[in-house]
Amino acid sequence: MENNYSGKKILITGGLGFIGSNIAHRLVEMGAEVTILDALLPIYGGNKYNINGIEKKIQLVIGDLRDFRLVEKLVEDKDIIFNLAAQVSYIDSINIPFEDLDINCKGHLIVLDACRHKNPKAIIVFSSSRMVLGKIVKTPVTEKHPTEPLSIYGIHKLTAEKYYLAYNKTYGLKTIVLRITNPYGLRQQMKHNKYSLIGWFLRQAMENKTIKIFGDGSQLRDYIYIDDIVEGFLKAAICDKAIGRIYNIGYGRSVKFSEMAKTVIDVVKKGKIEYIPWPKNYEKIETGSFEMSLKQARSDFNWIPKTKLKSGIQDMYEYYKKYKKYYW
Ligand SMILES: NC(=O)c1ccc[n+]([C@@H]2O[C@H](COP(=O)([O-])OP(=O)(O)OC[C@H]3O[C@@H](n4cnc5c(N)ncnc54)[C@H](O)[C@@H]3O)[C@@H](O)[C@H]2O)c1
Repeated sequence: MENNYSGKKILITGGLGFIGSNIAHRLVEMGAEVTILDALLPIYGGNKYNINGIEKKIQLVIGDLRDFRLVEKLVEDKDIIFNLAAQVSYIDSINIPFEDLDINCKGHLIVLDACRHKNPKAIIVFSSSRMVLGKIVKTPVTEKHPTEPLSIYGIHKLTAEKYYLAYNKTYGLKTIVLRITNPYGLRQQMKHNKYSLIGWFLRQAMENKTIKIFGDGSQLRDYIYIDDIVEGFLKAAICDKAIGRIYNIGYGRSVKFSEMAKTVIDVVKKGKIEYIPWPKNYEKIETGSFEMSLKQARSDFNWIPKTKLKSGIQDMYEYYKKYKKYYW
């Protein structure tokens, strides 16, 4: 893979956030020329410490995805664009529907249209979410699972997926859609529990607090570690067959919610768990138990995630013990 990325010009929108910054670290390691565009909007995971160690090797542009002129300039000479910028909280999306629409739809349409005019040859990877699916009717969940999103976030992510596919069909842009399950790992935001729950649970345990679980914790989730996500994104982006298609990016095996929380406590050796009733507003958007099928990604770009939950959480714990002051 090193040969495919060495010397390549790459733009990462949302690159100061969790997933984008980890992609940036790996790309710098492989000799790519990385530009990050990030607006550092306060409630999301953008964090300058996330590029610690590579800050002198990349170009950082603090700016907004919705700024058409800026985006036009930035996409012009790029080989690959990883589009990670987003309003990320599906819970918040009902309270800030217009901001969600603006970033998650209009922002992405701007990147696509800027590429259409200035750089139709670029490969453009979009990070979508399992939230486009809504209630799970059949597991393991394939890319063909029905899409009936339950949140404004899910509706807008699904709309954006359709923009990416339409720009491929209509204008021949080289777009790829990757649907992520529940990600966890280094450089994830730890400020609030609106998304990225493993991070939040880890914080509770590190502060010797009580982790609150809705219901009996029996719902299944598919947690994927950041290094595996990064590898999936990088492999997909250099796979010709992936252009114009959607792929699942998950671990492919699920664990109970309660087991994930117990693993966190096991690793940290502090904190405790309390089971509480579902709050009304949460139950309405609960998707049900979930496990992804990864067959498509495995057969098209030979991607198989490797990191076991306990070892991923252990690495995360070591990181946040050391660098807590940058994330709390
Ligand atoms: N974290 C999750 O639970 C999860 C799950 C599935 C999919 N995803 C998707 O993965 C992608 C990355 O998420 P993440 O977990 O790294 O989140 P994150 O909050 O850590 O990163 C998102 C980044 O986007 C930036 N951003 C937001 N709006 C912007 C704008 N208008 N212009 C420029 N930058 C902007 C933020 O400042 C932040 O740095 C998103 O598209 C998200 O929808 C995340």
